[in-house]
Amino acid sequence: SMPTQSDDFDVTRIVQEDRVHGSVYTSPEIFQRELDTIFRTGWVYVAHESEVSELGDYVTRVIGKDPIVVSRGKDGEIRVLLNRCTHRANKLCNAEKGNANSYRCPYHGWTFSNDGSLTAVPMRNGYGEAFQKVKSELGLAQAPRVDSYRGFIFASLAAEGVSLTEHLGRSTKAIDRLLALSPTGTIDLRANWMKHHHHANWKMVVENNVDGYHALFTHASVYDAVRPAKVSHIPSKVDVVVRDLGDGHSEIDYSAEYRKLDDEFIWYGRTKREKLPEYVEAMEEAYPEGELHDALVVGPPHTLIWPNLFLAEMNIMFVEPIAVNETIAYTTAALFPGQDRMNQKTLRRAEGAMGPAGFLIADDGEIGMRNQAGLAAEEPEWLVLARGLETDVEDATGTVNSDKSAETPQRGFYRQWAKVVGQES
Ligand code: FES
Ligand code: FE
Repeated sequence: SMPTQSDDFDVTRIVQEDRVHGSVYTSPEIFQRELDTIFRTGWVYVAHESEVSELGDYVTRVIGKDPIVVSRGKDGEIRVLLNRCTHRANKLCNAEKGNANSYRCPYHGWTFSNDGSLTAVPMRNGYGEAFQKVKSELGLAQAPRVDSYRGFIFASLAAEGVSLTEHLGRSTKAIDRLLALSPTGTIDLRANWMKHHHHANWKMVVENNVDGYHALFTHASVYDAVRPAKVSHIPSKVDVVVRDLGDGHSEIDYSAEYRKLDDEFIWYGRTKREKLPEYVEAMEEAYPEGELHDALVVGPPHTLIWPNLFLAEMNIMFVEPIAVNETIAYTTAALFPGQDRMNQKTLRRAEGAMGPAGFLIADDGEIGMRNQAGLAAEEPEWLVLARGLETDVEDATGTVNSDKSAETPQRGFYRQWAKVVGQES
């Protein structure tokens, strides 16, 4: 008796304060409802401005399952076009990225300008007069709202709704924190995306990023084999907290730990002045002394921005839901303009953790698959989200738990989920 029929959908039967029903990871009806609500009514991260910095640059992505092209038109405007030919719905642009003034459909050759308008119809005389009249209405559909925050581009397929600023809420601080570490205050995400096909529901992939409980177990082999000296140290890192930032955003906040190590430029893998002098010099030039210190000792963020973006220190990740039990996670490294040597190190670190043989993604990918296998049991059960519920503390920054293994971020995620998915259509 799963509560999945849309006519009697009652979200409290699948999400409660301290638990979530297994069907949220397995039910095709709930997955469809997520597409219709989270991905068709809310703001979704789609691209970074550095990826479409030149006129004509584009990348192809999805919002939920709707294929899109994020394009910078001849006029310089960034648009989010539905990647679907208006003739017979063929996927129009099939490259992952490129630069083009127009897109020609591979099926019958209809051609659209990168501002979305239909510019050419081969053998158009074969169409009657009625068609000639509607041709101007056959441009590509566009996301009605596109906005960005400091280079991160978001789109909403709904014409009405909260502003991007309201949507991002407290999570903008995470973006600020990351950009504060760049001497130019900007990042470049053009290093290409590493992809991992998870055999798991998109939420499991997303939630796992703010799960401070699993690392010692899921990633035990890393601690055992690669960094044995760290194992005894990790449980004593009591200063790390988890935080529900509200509106579905959450984080594992390592800043206290970075501060504890308070030393110049310590945040970047204990980078010393001798190792990356160009970076240190550029930062000293960019910042007055006190501000420089503040920017560096707080370190990079580890923050989930609802629903699909994750900033993991220098790694940027977003997810695309493919089916109820299939997800693609995209990861790249945030590069700092002009810091080539540092960027090489950043890239190697990102590949090491999240690349094809990455030590983190391999473990997490397998865990996600096993989750789905467990959930395949005939009658899904409630899953526990209660860890740390009694020790959560409200403060000006959100709901904080000083135990980094608390399930505070997941509770925040599902509070937002229930609000959005449970909304009246
Ligand atoms: Fe695109 Fe026919 S489907 S031109
Ligand atoms: Fe992990």
